[in-house]
Amino acid sequence: MTVHRLSPEILSAMEGAVGQSGIAVDPVDMAKYLGDWSGDHHGGALAVLKPASVAEVQAVVRLCGALGLGVIPQGGNTGLVAGAIDIEGRGAVVVSLERLSSIRLVDADNFILHADAGCILQTIKDAADEHDCLFPLALGAQGSCQIGGNAASNAGGVNVVRYGMARDLILGLEVVLPDGELWRGFSGLRKDNRGYDLKQLFIGSEGTLGIITGVEMKLFPRPARVETAYLGLSSFEAAVALFRQARRAAADLISAFEIIGSECIDLARLVDADLVSPVEAPVHVLIELSASAAIDLRALLVEFLTAAMESGLVTQAVLAESSTQARTFWAIREGLVEGQAKRGYHVRTDLAVRISDIPALVDRARRLVVLEHPDWLPLAYGHAGDGNIHFNVLPPAGLSESEARAQGAAITAGLYRIADSLGGSISAEHGIGRTRHRVFWAGLAPAHRRLVTALKEALDPQGLMNPGCLLPSTETVP
Ligand code: FAD
Ligand code: LAC
Ligand code: ZN
Repeated sequence: MTVHRLSPEILSAMEGAVGQSGIAVDPVDMAKYLGDWSGDHHGGALAVLKPASVAEVQAVVRLCGALGLGVIPQGGNTGLVAGAIDIEGRGAVVVSLERLSSIRLVDADNFILHADAGCILQTIKDAADEHDCLFPLALGAQGSCQIGGNAASNAGGVNVVRYGMARDLILGLEVVLPDGELWRGFSGLRKDNRGYDLKQLFIGSEGTLGIITGVEMKLFPRPARVETAYLGLSSFEAAVALFRQARRAAADLISAFEIIGSECIDLARLVDADLVSPVEAPVHVLIELSASAAIDLRALLVEFLTAAMESGLVTQAVLAESSTQARTFWAIREGLVEGQAKRGYHVRTDLAVRISDIPALVDRARRLVVLEHPDWLPLAYGHAGDGNIHFNVLPPAGLSESEARAQGAAITAGLYRIADSLGGSISAEHGIGRTRHRVFWAGLAPAHRRLVTALKEALDPQGLMNPGCLLPSTETVP
């Protein structure tokens, strides 16, 4: 049964758990927790609880368990699949980690950092930097997303090609389990083969198995040298061929290899009208090499790019002469995401295919839009070095939002079919949330479904952790 309102007794028990400043029930006070960054998703909540300690998180989870109330863990609310927003109006309590936000430890000798789950990613990156270290997780939302949210959604971003996803960067977790017990999985060990690697269960679980309260991360030496180039190419095929060559020439010194269809540049200009693209070409590549040792990256990059230009693979190349100029290149990549949000609702995907299948993916996806929705604007960009393309589609001006959402759902379904036909994934990095749970579930093999269900039932037998996220409820299972 869906609960729509909490009694004064329950509210006072909640206040007892988190204190007066840790609870919001007024719609105005709750508003910022009930809409996501994109503005696409809005939901409701019985209350927003903001525990300020791990013990308070445990008290909240125990209380909700006793009352049979759903719990939606929330980080910075920058997720793009409504994982932290109750869009289906089931009636649940949002638990924001924002007050659990300290760096607990920076151990530069062992290249380890511990932080509370509510610590903002940028704060962690800055703390690592102060110790001459790097925490390499990097994404456009890093100024507001939280490390707990990054762990729960197994975030990717622009440096995955070199350092891997959140899953690869986390050494240990601390989690409040659905029954309120605390599991501490910090060891500081790089190698530990004692049975199941439990932290990996919670990484990417999108709040459905417990509330992450602390994260132990791997640090890396801070790169002393960084070289960035912005390139023009004739096609996605050429970009993939270039990546292949770059992997041979620069191996693991490539820290980013981003691809941008030229149609995206106008979107970046919506954020900064003065922004100038360094090249004029159908496809742009932003490549970054970095190293912490004394390697002449510049010579390596120049040699590699000279050969790529001589062979005709790269038609234009601009090497950043300073870190300021490199920032202007990255401003294009970041601006195009913000620019899309300014256009309101649109189709947003994060598809993954084998790197060699990127051209086929983009080609088929563009054809789908041109043939079936010719007035929509397709955009292709993403983390080409990971085979991850954000193929997004903007509705024509003047289309009502409800009509755009209806047509957008059909386009999204078509794009998922294309990714599927290439053996790809409907989610490279953003997750399943509440926008993809049905298609995710429908596509699972029976054995996979059985394992997912068994895990959920074993850890959260009451089904109270983030209900409606990732796993569809029984009534929506196809
Ligand atoms: P939220 O949005 O608050 O939550 C995300 C999910 O995690 C929800 O299911 C929530 O219930 C759960 N959750 C949050 N905190 C906890 C916790 N402590 N314990 C348990 N569960 C929890 N993502 C990428 O992967 N790569 C990108 O390049 C990228 N770029 C982005 C750029 C922009 C401009 C924006 C707005 C988003 C981008 N994202 C990207 C998506 C998003 O930023 C990431 O998924 C991020 O990791 C979400 O963190 P958050 O703290 O905002 O989590
Ligand atoms: C990006 C986000 C949207 O790559 O994943 O910009
Ligand atoms: Zn991305």
